[in-house]
Amino acid sequence: MAAVRAFAPGRVNLIGDHTDHTGGLVLPMAVDLGTMVEGEPGGDEVMLRSEWAGDEARIPLEVADPAAIHPSWGRYVAGVVAELRPELGFVGTVTTTLPVGAGLSSSAALEVAVAVALGGDLGDPIGLAQVGQRAEQRASGVPCGIMDQLASTAGVAGHALRIDCHDLSIRPVPLPAAIDVWVVHSGQERSLAGSAYAERAAACQRAEATTGPLRLASLGALEAIDDPVVRRRARHVVSENARVDALVAALAAQDRAAIGEVLAASHASLRDDFEVSTAALDALAADLAATPGVLGARLTGAGFGGCAVALVEAGTPLPAHRQAWLVRPSAGARLL
Ligand code: GLA
Repeated sequence: MAAVRAFAPGRVNLIGDHTDHTGGLVLPMAVDLGTMVEGEPGGDEVMLRSEWAGDEARIPLEVADPAAIHPSWGRYVAGVVAELRPELGFVGTVTTTLPVGAGLSSSAALEVAVAVALGGDLGDPIGLAQVGQRAEQRASGVPCGIMDQLASTAGVAGHALRIDCHDLSIRPVPLPAAIDVWVVHSGQERSLAGSAYAERAAACQRAEATTGPLRLASLGALEAIDDPVVRRRARHVVSENARVDALVAALAAQDRAAIGEVLAASHASLRDDFEVSTAALDALAADLAATPGVLGARLTGAGFGGCAVALVEAGTPLPAHRQAWLVRPSAGARLL
């Protein structure tokens, strides 16, 4: 057996999208699908063979530009090497049970698994997530927030995580056993780097120049923003922060109607105010919401294609005509 076996889960976000990069609230959970890096420390490069890609990435320990590495999945490995600067190399393999590029944070799982394999500190889930976040930013050029990596490092079995991205405090929120979580693909591939993610994050910063931190702003305070587009972007963030706590309360009360309403309101806000939905995601969310047993559904993650998340009565059969996963709230990254 390999000397090191590092596992990191993917995540799905139940609610709180496009809030983390403004220090807002999010409610992701680590899932029971993930990525494993197995091998032996040694040598003067990190050499990983990917089972799913069928090729190999070789990263020099002094890697200068992670974004220039080929194959492209090796950029996330290189980002971690550039952040951690390990003294020893590593030789091994990467395997994953996550669908790649589907919105379950396969890149965050890869970054965290590599960081753990290279000796990253499992006792410091926030620091480990920050390594992964900076690696992702270096690899992809996207100014992403910390949600995906922090869900992967700090996951708690049976729980979602209410994360306050302002102070990075984490509160595990039990998911009722009577409720299942589905991730359903829209059939439309999603590309973060090619998307308007950076433009949306910049609009939030412009709003904050007027209002101060959106995390603390009231809806009324947004009237002072002149640009109507920037005002709508900010309205999404402020209202979405409130919806995170509304869903936490609805889950605690197992209030099925409230769960459905808050998920629908989140989707509408991402569609109308933040404008990161697509026709395929709108149709998927509507289709799911009308499915017997489904309490509510919304697009999840960055948008621009990818997946929707649905909360459903436990035991409801997965939609047969779509690519869909029943995911369980799971523990975070670990050495096996
Ligand atoms: C991507 C980013 C996250 C977060 C989501 C949207 O997954 O990596 O940091 O911003 O989009 O909520």
